[in-house]
Parts: sequence; C-alpha cells; structure tokens
Amino acid sequence: MNYTILGTGSYLPERVVTNADMEKLVDTSDEWIRTRTGIKTRHYSTGETGWYMALQACQRALEAAQMSPKDIDAIFVSSATPDYMVPSTSCILQGELGAENAFAIDINVACAGYIYVMDMAARYLASPNINHVLVVSTEQLTARTNFNDRNTCVLFGDAASATVVGKEGSGEILTSILGADGTGGHLLVSKNFDPENPFLEADWQERWPDRFEGHIQKLYMNGAEVYRFAVRKMSGMIKDMVAEVGLTIEDIDYMIPHQANTRILEAAAKRLKFPMEKMYTGIEKMGNTSSAGLGVGIDECVRTGTIKSGDLVAMSGFGGGLTYGALLLRI
Ligand code: UT7
Repeated sequence: MNYTILGTGSYLPERVVTNADMEKLVDTSDEWIRTRTGIKTRHYSTGETGWYMALQACQRALEAAQMSPKDIDAIFVSSATPDYMVPSTSCILQGELGAENAFAIDINVACAGYIYVMDMAARYLASPNINHVLVVSTEQLTARTNFNDRNTCVLFGDAASATVVGKEGSGEILTSILGADGTGGHLLVSKNFDPENPFLEADWQERWPDRFEGHIQKLYMNGAEVYRFAVRKMSGMIKDMVAEVGLTIEDIDYMIPHQANTRILEAAAKRLKFPMEKMYTGIEKMGNTSSAGLGVGIDECVRTGTIKSGDLVAMSGFGGGLTYGALLLRI
C-alpha cells in the first residue's frame, strides 16, 4: 500500500556524556564500553522533558514535509518513559503544535515502539479519511536510569524523533511483522509504584506477590538474555519479510535497526550475510535511546541522502516486554 515518508525530524539534547564521564560514576572503563557495546557518547537531558524533545522533533519533521500541523490527522507516540501517565504525550503535542484536526494515541512497546507506531500509521492510513500521520518517539531514559548500576547506566541516552507519513507519493509499505513474548518480561523491568498509598496493607507483598519481584522505578535489564533474543529475532524477521514478498536479502538497499549494541548489529549482519556498510549505526554517538533511536536513524538517513526514493529499506526493533517488530519499506 502507498506509504511515503514526507518529512523527518529528531532531537538530541545538547549535553554530551562521554565514557570518561561514566568512569567517574561507576566501576567501568572506556575500553569495556566501546568494545562490549560500541558506545562512545550519549546525549543527556539536563532538564528537557520528553514532550519538549518530541515537540522539537515534530516541528522539524513538519518543516521538512512543508506541512502545517492542521494537515495532520493522527499523532501516534511511542514512549516507555513518558513524562506523565495523564495527559498522554501525544495529547500534549497535539495542543502544543495546534494540530487541531488530529486525534492522539500513546503506546508503550519499549524499544520496538517505533516499528509499532509506523505500522499503526500504515493501518490507519488505509482508512479513507486519514491522510497524514505524525509518528513520534520520545525517550528520557535518564529519568529511569540507575546511575549506580554499571550493567545498565552506561548504555542509555535521551532522544526524540518524528516522521510524517502519508499515502500520497511513491513510497510503499511492503510488509511488517509485530510480535511479543510476555514470558520474557522479567528481563527488562521498570516499575510504577506509589509506596505512600495510605491503603497499602503492611503484608501486601506477601499476600499479592509482585509479578517482577524486587524491582523499583529504575530500569533493570538482564543484558545477556536480551542480547540473544535480539540477534535471533532481528535476523529472523528480516529473512521472513523478504521471503514473504518474494525478494532476497541482496535486494535490501539499507537497514535501520534498533540501536542497542553494535555487536548485536554485527551478529545479525553476519547471520544475514548483509554488509555492515549498509546498516545504520548511530549507537556510537547516542547510546541506546530505546524507541527514539529508529526515528533518529530515519531522520539522519533521509537528511544525508543515505536512503532515497526507490530504495528498499528494512527496519527492525526489539525490547522490553519482550516485544519485536520489523518493516519493509520502499522509500
Ligand atoms: O534496547 C533494549 C534491548 N536491550 C538490549 O538489546 C541490550 C542487549 N544486551 C547487551 O547489549 C549486552 O548484553 C550488554 C552490553 C548489556 C552487556 O554485555 P555482555 O557482553 O552481555 O556482558 P555481561 O552482562 O555478560 O557481563 C560481562 C561482564 C560481567 O563481569 P563478570 O561477571 O564476568 O565478572 C559484568 O559485571 O562485564 C561486566 N560489566 C561491566 N564491566 C565494566 C557489565 N557492565 C560493565 C561495565 N563496565 N559497564
């Protein structure tokens, strides 16, 4: 079906935090972080909220699309780290942008979120009265980072991204895959909980055991397990998509995968026999920004001309939930 990227935008906070900065926080080293993850720097919010970062990304995407916010029929936001439970980030953006004709939906699918909102946009665009969707992701992971845990704190960064998609133009969505494996929920956890609730009973923990015991608000991750899941899923989904539409891996012009670890990208590329030079790697400068990283990748690739009209582009994501998803696009 017709599905064209009409404009892209992204926002990375100005404050750059290096591996040397992380060495001052926890028992780690630049060498470990670089060789085990590929990360050299990350961008940290110094107070910018998730919605503010998203607003900057949306304004850039609308400007690139040469469109008014009034042209937008729907705003879909992916965030695992929203500023508020209520109102939703998409509603805040709708109001800030003056997108008076748009309805607004937030989803939380962790790192696979951008794939999910891009897929949702395609499905809504199939409806006759929806012509333009603003697809957004914003993640302020530092708000959920445990800066005493070297296993996780060196990985994450903050970012927002936005893509305007519409059904005019020559772009196409060939196929998509969405999936979940809730049995792996314990591998990546960040809890919402109010210990000051006056109706909590003293023995509530014994009576109603927590689904993921012992977790607080800060992010916990079993990196090694998620790593294995990620490599398997990423290569499997790409193979399945090209086979479904009668193409081959060699037909793919460019891949934009979730930016979690350079080693995951290299392992998946090896399994697929796909050249790393044709794969987006932004993790080196921005770390793992959860669902925002894929949108940052699209924005950079479009603006630098790395991907252009007619190219076959495969995107894939995976993350907490566990969730996974992939898209095959003709740009
Ligand atoms: O975006 C959502 C999805 N998330 C992901 O896809 C993340 C996937 N996982 C990963 O990227 C990798 O598993 C990590 C980068 C998180 C970890 O790399 P690893 O090679 O799997 O390391 P590990 O967890 O097996 O730990 C190896 C060693 C441990 O030491 P011991 O127990 O062998 O003595 C860790 O304590 O590395 C140690 N370690 C560190 N050392 C220095 C863990 N973090 C650090 C650190 N600095 N920051």
